[in-house]
Amino acid sequence: VSFDLRAPDGGALPPFMAGAHVNLRLDGVERSYSLTNSPEETHRYVIAVRREEGGRGGSRLVHERLRPGTVVQVSAPANLFGLDEAAAEHILIAGGIGITPILSMARRLATLGRSWRVYYGVRFIEDAAFADDLRSLAGTEAGRVTIQPRASGRLDIAAIVAAAPPAAHLYCCGPAGMLEAFRAAAEGRDPATVHFEYFQSAQEAAKGGFTVYLARSKKTFDIGDNQSILGAVLASGMKVAHSCQQGVCGACETRVLEGTPDHRDSVLSPREQAANRTMMICCSGSKTPRLVLDL
Ligand code: FES
Repeated sequence: VSFDLRAPDGGALPPFMAGAHVNLRLDGVERSYSLTNSPEETHRYVIAVRREEGGRGGSRLVHERLRPGTVVQVSAPANLFGLDEAAAEHILIAGGIGITPILSMARRLATLGRSWRVYYGVRFIEDAAFADDLRSLAGTEAGRVTIQPRASGRLDIAAIVAAAPPAAHLYCCGPAGMLEAFRAAAEGRDPATVHFEYFQSAQEAAKGGFTVYLARSKKTFDIGDNQSILGAVLASGMKVAHSCQQGVCGACETRVLEGTPDHRDSVLSPREQAANRTMMICCSGSKTPRLVLDL
């Protein structure tokens, strides 16, 4: 379902760049959603939410509770997946609902008159959200939009990346498997031209069975299985920065003062994870019996 969010007074909203997301808060649950509309539109944010029956409940809540006229709290846009508008050529790869930021990018690139292509992998062709919007953006240019259902085989990410000219900017948003294939295929390219965004955590959340001491607040928490450090801290009434709660946005990054985290996020690079200076407390755990955090 697609939702058109507007200010209650109908006024202009804070501007955004293609690839941006907003956090939507409903009944105390906060989730991030990419904006699908074009950044030239200043009067609305358009998001699309796929109902995930097996998910954590955020998408069900949005589907069941958001109705025309419902008032919801929406953050200003943030962007961890920015479109490089100056680049001449863009290859946009999406899997499933990962099409949402890619669609905004395609709209913007079409407006700017840049060269772009979309490769969009879907389970079934009838699942392909925004297929008509993409086709109309593509116009008559053959091959500009490829929508590939699973029955025809998965998108050959390695071949798509290998065929891209060296100066082209590559973007990928989709499930973890697709992102891993993309990152592996793009390894030798200029990192400034390789852009990706996870929309779900690449990894299982860490196990519990360790203790966390918060050095500034002087509080101790025993973290059990099926519990995150963030969850324990929030349940105590403390306020700490967070958003996605699945290790993909970076909002909950916290300094580690002692102990070795068990990193499960998709934000820190392997080198940053190995340095163990910070961790994402929404999904990562501990390899040592005790962690001391700068909170
Ligand atoms: S809340 Fe997004 S990474 Fe932790």
